[in-house]
Amino acid sequence: MKHVKASMQVDRSFVVGRVDPRLFGGFVEHLGRAVYEGLYEPGHPTADASGLRTDVLDLVRALDMPVTRYPGGNFVSGYNWEDGVGPRETRPVRLDGAWKTTETNQFGTNEFVDWCRKAHSAPMLAVNLGTRGMEEARQLVEYCNHPGGSYGSDLRREHGYPDPHAVKLWCLGNEIDGPWQIGKKTAREYGRLAEETAKAMRMVDNAIELVVCGSSSAGMPWFAKYEAEVLEHCFDHVDYVSTHVYYNNHKGDTPHFLSKPDEMDRQIKQLAATLDFVSAVRKSRKRIDISFDEWNVWYHSHEQNKTLPEWTSPRPLLEDVYNMEDALVVGGMLITLLNNADRVKIGCIAQTVNVIAPIMTRKGGPAWKQTIYHPFLHASRYGRGVALRPVIDSDTYENADGLATDYLHAAAVMNDDGGVALLAVNRSLDAELELSVRLGGFGGFGVKEWLTMCHADLEAVNTEAQPETVAPETRDGATVKGEEIRAALAPASWNVIRLGQP
Ligand code: AHR
Repeated sequence: MKHVKASMQVDRSFVVGRVDPRLFGGFVEHLGRAVYEGLYEPGHPTADASGLRTDVLDLVRALDMPVTRYPGGNFVSGYNWEDGVGPRETRPVRLDGAWKTTETNQFGTNEFVDWCRKAHSAPMLAVNLGTRGMEEARQLVEYCNHPGGSYGSDLRREHGYPDPHAVKLWCLGNEIDGPWQIGKKTAREYGRLAEETAKAMRMVDNAIELVVCGSSSAGMPWFAKYEAEVLEHCFDHVDYVSTHVYYNNHKGDTPHFLSKPDEMDRQIKQLAATLDFVSAVRKSRKRIDISFDEWNVWYHSHEQNKTLPEWTSPRPLLEDVYNMEDALVVGGMLITLLNNADRVKIGCIAQTVNVIAPIMTRKGGPAWKQTIYHPFLHASRYGRGVALRPVIDSDTYENADGLATDYLHAAAVMNDDGGVALLAVNRSLDAELELSVRLGGFGGFGVKEWLTMCHADLEAVNTEAQPETVAPETRDGATVKGEEIRAALAPASWNVIRLGQP
């Protein structure tokens, strides 16, 4: 077996910041089988009285996603929220141009809020700023959040919801710079609309928090400039700027693919610098933070999607089946989010069920965990508390962009129980990584648990028939001597080493 080496220094006083639990959020769009056959399937053997699949709810609850973004995504830019409330038999069937799907509207805002309560998640609602505007947005806030005694709030009560939904977090549209978006807007057009919509929504409920769209990805030619111009208009009225990223391994270059979380780190740093630039220009003390409200691996289903007939419902779109190497990239992206916990306050893995998702279902059949479910669960469970800045000295390889890439990619989190969790990926495909960690300021720690996930075949996947092909296991062999922890990380492995008082 070949070996590479890395050392890591972690000190309780090298603090990045407190991890906002909303970093571990999810996303459900009216797309493919995310809602229909995912969240909602009346008649399914596990469905509750509201038609919600409880097998899916169990798997989501285990992931402990504090927020879930809904209803899009591209879908929201053509959505009439009014179509999805009130008696089901009167709800219209519409054409969803974004995904060429017929939308039956049998599931809407109220059903989603019900689902969120059962999933132990808080709704993060996006308003349509593609085909619609501030009027419909403020009416949706009134419908959801006003207690009663007004047209909108009384309509909600009439629909069977006497208590306000108290939706705190709202997105001002979605990827509105994208040429594919219904109602694409220039930075100036969108900045003005976002400013006025934010004001109108807050006039209904001043307690809400608002996320404004940035460029749909860092690859857009106007990345950073778009954000700066949008904020010139709405800086005083918003709390977060949204950013998205999806990675792929189309070229079959796994070392390069595994280095992608470093690119995500650059995206966050460049976006944070842009947001601070706007603050500086305005001589403002206000700090706008980042909502990374779509991130994942996405590419396996691209060809299959092209073969699906249009205008059906639901269309099984974006059903990526994730493999072992995808789980390493997702784990790496979670590490990057934790290492930037001072600026990224909200994160939404895109998405949650069936559509580029950690959870898959079959209509009438079971629900199972994709490979990427496991690193997400570990990070959500053990990545809470205070993120510490890991100082890493690692052997490196050169990726296809000519960039030196550390074999070790890691984060360290001081959990509220006083322990420390080290989350680490060994990006070498064929060498064991000899890891030495120096823990400053934590006396008398031992190894409580070492969780790891790897597979001899990086293309191994979990399926309905074999849902446990790629699954985590516990390992022995990490040693502690004074302040030094030593462990040998298997090639191409995901690891969580939990340390604490024995
Ligand atoms: O998550 C799938 C799609 O990716 C979303 O609808 C859109 O916002 C992004 O382009």
